[in-house]
Amino acid sequence: MNFRNRNFVSLHDFSKEEIEHVFKTADSIHEKKDICAGKILATLFYEPSTRTRLSFESAMHRLGGNVIGFTDIATTSVKKGETIADTGRSVECYSDIIVLRHPDDGAAKIMADYTKVPIINGGDGSHQHPTQTLLDMYTIRQELGKLKGLKIGICGDLKYGRTAHSLAEGLSLYNNEFIFASPEELKLPDYAKRKLDEKNIKYEEKRELKDTLDVDVLYMTRIQKERFHDPIEYERVKNNTILTKELGQKTNALIMHPLPRVNEIAYEIDEKQNAAYFRQMKYGVTVRMALISLLLGVVE
Ligand code: CP
Repeated sequence: MNFRNRNFVSLHDFSKEEIEHVFKTADSIHEKKDICAGKILATLFYEPSTRTRLSFESAMHRLGGNVIGFTDIATTSVKKGETIADTGRSVECYSDIIVLRHPDDGAAKIMADYTKVPIINGGDGSHQHPTQTLLDMYTIRQELGKLKGLKIGICGDLKYGRTAHSLAEGLSLYNNEFIFASPEELKLPDYAKRKLDEKNIKYEEKRELKDTLDVDVLYMTRIQKERFHDPIEYERVKNNTILTKELGQKTNALIMHPLPRVNEIAYEIDEKQNAAYFRQMKYGVTVRMALISLLLGVVE
């Protein structure tokens, strides 16, 4: 399988077999020392992030490579009007691989079209967050021992939540069924449902979290306040889908969340063995180490 110099902008850039190869590579990546020595990762973050940026940077350091980048476009020439394409063409002069987070849907695709080094999408608008999905799927594989034949509840902001869109696409490669729970205003977009219909994937839509607890995986998401045009609309739905201590006691599902959480999961649930969201973050470093190594061609 050849990953060298490819982009990872959308989940469907990789076949099911290639996704599984990333996971197999991840299984032993911590045994490989300094395989990215002399390589530079650039992290270009036009939007806030804790996990995605720091886990990519941690991954590159653990592989023996170096990191450059920015987290505040106010300090860059983006502020002077430089385009995504030109920023990409500039930063590739200084680095071997780029991770981009951007508020606009499709931004990573634009940068990938104009650059020769691999571009990794670290989240583009409400569109996709494909490396989050790789780590989410890896978490399920590690914690439940399989990726197929599962009932998956995806809950919260399914309209703006890019992690939900990517995850439904990734898990639909396997024989899984879904329950989507969200307020009416934040239900899964039609385009995402059409993709499931095309694959004959079984799914239900619910308005209440309490109807979504009998699942193997309960994937909670944050209401994406920053994507709302109307603050009153946000206020109306912000407390709609919350896994309270009481609801948490009624499920044995593997509880996941891409984080950050605002108030979607009660803190009392954190200590439960099936609360996987902080372990999920650790798996993220492992999977991102594998992805960087494959795209740089230092492993095959
Ligand atoms: N899960 C995730 O993308 O988190 P950050 O926004 O902190 O990167």
